[in-house]
Amino acid sequence: MFSVFVLFTLLQRVIGFYYDSQLYVPKYRDYLEAQGNLTRDLFKNYEKDVSPVYAWFDTTKPLGYDKEAPKRWNYTLLLYNLKLVEVNEPEEQVSVVLELMEYWYDPRLSWNASDYRNVTAIFTRQEKIWSPTLTPFGVNELIDFRDQDFRLVCIDNLGQIYDYLSVRVSANCRMNVANFPFDAQTCQIRFSLPIFSYKEVQMFNDIYEGIKNESSYKAMGNSEWELINLTNRVDFLSYQDRFDLELAVFEIKIARNPLYYFYMIVFPSFVINSVSIVGVFLKGADKMSKLNVGLTNIMTMTFILGVMSDKIPRTGNIPLLAVYIIINLLIMLVAIAVVTLINEIRNWAHPRLKKRKSTFSRRLESFIGSPLEYTCAVLLELATCANFLVMIAFWIDDS
Ligand SMILES: *[C@@H]1O[C@H](CO)[C@@H](O)[C@H](O)[C@H]1NC(C)=O
Ligand SMILES: *[C@@H]1O[C@H](CO)[C@@H](O)[C@H](O)[C@H]1NC(C)=O
Ligand SMILES: *[C@@H]1O[C@H](CO)[C@@H](O)[C@H](O)[C@H]1NC(C)=O
Ligand SMILES: *[C@@H]1O[C@H](CO)[C@@H](O)[C@H](O)[C@H]1NC(C)=O
Ligand SMILES: *[C@@H]1O[C@H](CO)[C@@H](O)[C@H](O)[C@H]1NC(C)=O
Ligand SMILES: *[C@@H]1O[C@H](CO)[C@@H](O)[C@H](O)[C@H]1NC(C)=O
Repeated sequence: MFSVFVLFTLLQRVIGFYYDSQLYVPKYRDYLEAQGNLTRDLFKNYEKDVSPVYAWFDTTKPLGYDKEAPKRWNYTLLLYNLKLVEVNEPEEQVSVVLELMEYWYDPRLSWNASDYRNVTAIFTRQEKIWSPTLTPFGVNELIDFRDQDFRLVCIDNLGQIYDYLSVRVSANCRMNVANFPFDAQTCQIRFSLPIFSYKEVQMFNDIYEGIKNESSYKAMGNSEWELINLTNRVDFLSYQDRFDLELAVFEIKIARNPLYYFYMIVFPSFVINSVSIVGVFLKGADKMSKLNVGLTNIMTMTFILGVMSDKIPRTGNIPLLAVYIIINLLIMLVAIAVVTLINEIRNWAHPRLKKRKSTFSRRLESFIGSPLEYTCAVLLELATCANFLVMIAFWIDDS
């Protein structure tokens, strides 16, 4: 009898884990034991390959025809943070890093907290439970930063399961660069739970309140792009069949910071053009060196256009910056045309004007002397300035 007692206490010692009350407070031991009991009971009959999604209905009938059925199984995505990583204009792609919380309900994983000494939440490995597979929709790349083996979830006593995701998504967005470099783009990042239709699963998405303000938007952009709006919505995607589904959409609106293009392209080409016009109309220089100045300017403008071309997609509309440079180029072409043709005009007009004796022809004769060149130079300089000022006006309008 005694030996049975000894064996029993020994066995209890072996089953109960070793606990040093000098190192840890007794409450800790109680908590761990309650949590152990809970986990044991919770997963006793749990089948992790079976989903909790209710699908016991007639798919041909409209939503909610069965009054006894539970509400649709719901799945929520909560955006905690977003960071713009890269905007690739030629390929029309935007990459962002998203910090998301996903949560859903599994009624098999709920318990009465008072049965387990008020333990209301446990943390466990994701591989132990059934989880839906979040899938990006219409996205060309998704990188999940979490290691497959170390994913944790939190389960609370209502059967709600929380999981944290950290992903990098590269989404394709159509870009409109007609206002380049004062353009703003809108881009959608969409997620879905494929396989399940909207009759089975209801999608929700939300943005954490704390990041919906200007100062957090500032931190989300990068040095070239500023985030100006972040919204969420649920879209409905219908193919008129059993697999119609809901999409959780996060939409970002980003605006380009034009400063770089201003001091790298707009301002230098303004200066080059103004100086070149002076050079082309310089008195005393021979025709060849005037042409040289003009042609060098045209080559510079073409080169600048080339630099710009690998920042924009090959779209049908001409960006504002390209229009600016092309106008500068045209101004230069006019300048070259004037200096090459001016002597021909003089040689043609002089004898004819000499014959007439009116004061008007006298005036015209003196005008096509050097005043003609000055006037052209001034007009072309004014055109260059106007072109530059229009760009500045667009900039002010944009900001
Ligand atoms: C855990 O379960 C055992 C038996 O199953 C029970 O004796 C013990 O009191 C339980 N502990 C808690 C904290 O509920
Ligand atoms: C989601 O489902 C759970 C469990 O069925 C329910 O308690 C909760 O109210 C639902 N949430 C919404 C927003 O419908
Ligand atoms: C939880 O269990 C306690 C005691 O076991 C009981 O009094 C209580 O009604 C239960 N609560 C629910 C919601 O079942
Ligand atoms: C559980 O919580 C209830 C209400 O908060 C409290 O009355 C009860 O003593 C708690 N039980 C344990 C074991 O802590
Ligand atoms: C905006 O967000 C920042 C950073 O998250 C926070 O410090 C600030 O208090 C927020 N402001 C408002 C008005 O919510
Ligand atoms: C963001 O977009 C939404 C929807 O288009 C609009 O209602 C809201 O005013 C915008 N917010 C800002 C700060 O522009």
